[in-house]
Amino acid sequence: MTPLDALPLRPELRGRTPYGAPQLQVAHRLNTNENPHPLPAELLATLGEALGHAALELNRYPDRDAVALRTDLAAYLSRGGERVEPAQVWAANGSNEVLQQVLQAFGGAGRTALGFTPSYSMHPIISAGTGTAWVDGHRRADFTIDPAAAVAQVREVRPDVVFVTSPNNPTGTAVALETVTELYDATEGVLVVDEAYAEFARTGTPSALTLLPGRPRLLVSRTMSKAFGMAGLRLGYLAADPAVVDALQLVRLPYHLSSLTQAAARAALAHTDALLATVDAVKEQRDRIVATLPSLGLTSVPSDANFVLFGRFADAPAAWKALLEHDVLVRDVGIPGWLRVTAGTPAETDAFLTALGEVAPDHRLGD
Ligand SMILES: Cc1ncc(COP(=O)(O)O)c(C=O)c1O
Repeated sequence: MTPLDALPLRPELRGRTPYGAPQLQVAHRLNTNENPHPLPAELLATLGEALGHAALELNRYPDRDAVALRTDLAAYLSRGGERVEPAQVWAANGSNEVLQQVLQAFGGAGRTALGFTPSYSMHPIISAGTGTAWVDGHRRADFTIDPAAAVAQVREVRPDVVFVTSPNNPTGTAVALETVTELYDATEGVLVVDEAYAEFARTGTPSALTLLPGRPRLLVSRTMSKAFGMAGLRLGYLAADPAVVDALQLVRLPYHLSSLTQAAARAALAHTDALLATVDAVKEQRDRIVATLPSLGLTSVPSDANFVLFGRFADAPAAWKALLEHDVLVRDVGIPGWLRVTAGTPAETDAFLTALGEVAPDHRLGD
């Protein structure tokens, strides 16, 4: 096989490895923050019909602007209280594609993106893919953002794109809206609030959607991969000023969102309440994990998401391997001392906590 280095690859991509959590055949897969609950029967009953209907027109290109789907997504977002118009919404194949389009439109060669690491590792990777320079923003030792330090850094770096992940992946904690507004005021670039896990937030955690009016450079991205339990669908979306949606249309591929994806997403949105009914059950398991960790001599970072960053371990990769030997797959996100686990079904949480009970004595820090 030809080695990669023999190809005329862009220099900044040389030596990189593709992103991706291990897809291992393990009894308990708690490493990619999916919703473990099966789709509700009432949705499954109509999904086939919706896809069959769309299939009748598969000889035609899909609605390039996905107007009906964007209208449904706007209606869903408006449930939070703040009215969101269809012209403010854009959708693509997963929020990763939305973020890529954002970087294609607002980043690119000679431009810079900044995000507060540790955070979602695809932000720097998509930046590299679009030729956008990346700057690591700072966090405190407890993984929270220090608003004054963050504002100072943004003023100094003057990035074209700023990422705030709220709730943050992999640490789990939501970012205060005051921090978002301070960062918005500090930057002349676009500010992307990645809210992939918003639906799991603890009560009283408002969404940055409420900040959209009057802030044309604020972008809020969401996904159907997490709370909606439809990671396989690949449907992400964004809400922003209609001008931002116009800008994204300059870089999107024509007909990027297939008719089948649009039809399935609309069928799912028609069953929003049934789909989101599992969110409370997942939050219960998250809170159960958090509450149990101290009895195992471990701790966690406060979580508004469907996962928990837990530790501390003397050697996190060794603890990860030990859990795997107990048939539990969690995520080593590369933060020394910490691992991340997705909150699953009660049975998955049982398996995780039992395995952790056996692994913790040999691996926790300080023992
Ligand atoms: C913070 C964050 N944003 C975006 C995504 C991408 O989600 P998707 O492309 O499935 O919509 C993820 C997935 O794990 C994530 O954790």
